[in-house]
Amino acid sequence: MSAILTSLRNTVITGVVLALALFILIGHDHTSYDLPFWAFVFRFLHIASGVMWIGLLWYFNFVQIPSMPKIPDEQKPAIGKVIAPTALFWFRWGAMSTLITGLVLAHLNGYMVDALLLGTQTGQATFIGVGMWLAIIMWFNVWFVIWPNQKKALGIVQVEPDVKAKAARTAMLFSRTNTVLSVPMLLCMAAQSHLG
Ligand code: HEM
Repeated sequence: MSAILTSLRNTVITGVVLALALFILIGHDHTSYDLPFWAFVFRFLHIASGVMWIGLLWYFNFVQIPSMPKIPDEQKPAIGKVIAPTALFWFRWGAMSTLITGLVLAHLNGYMVDALLLGTQTGQATFIGVGMWLAIIMWFNVWFVIWPNQKKALGIVQVEPDVKAKAARTAMLFSRTNTVLSVPMLLCMAAQSHLG
């Protein structure tokens, strides 16, 4: 058991094996590799990716940013040089995976265009359309605002001290913006099937 839990790779593999075992034992009626099956697979991958992305967004906002002023200056590099770059790696690729699996899911559900037009064609994909646009704006912020500014703030890209301070503030404000948007976005994601 400790050989599993002391290795992150083995821990993740064990989680996947347990999920597959449950699916085979309980969900065996649904293994006819049809459209609903693949939509379910992408729904699962989509939610897992979204947890990785929004989990880290909330970690930054609920834990890391408020803790920074309380950490002595000589210990700050542990966050800036070790923890933040690793967290940002999973954060931005989690965002990418959430976007791709979400778009595939919308396509498999047959309402991708209608959703992007906010349900104006059928009146049925409004919730998910609004959620998708909110999440696409958040994805854009991650890749084209937060990550480029974090690279300067963390010293991955070398810049003058005043540019570095400005970049850290911009990254923080856009991270906060995404935290605001994450609440209505999540409401729309869950509402399409359960409230729509
Ligand atoms: C990045 C762009 C995104 C797109 C294109 C997208 C697309 C979708 C689609 C098409 C669905 C299926 C809705 C339905 O018919 O039930 C869905 C559901 C969902 N999405 Fe997203 N999504 C995105 C981002 C996110 C993010 C960031 C999260 C954060 C966790 C998320 C979490 C969920 C959840 C929890 C569901 C509900 C699943 C259910 O009720 O069964 N999505 N999304």
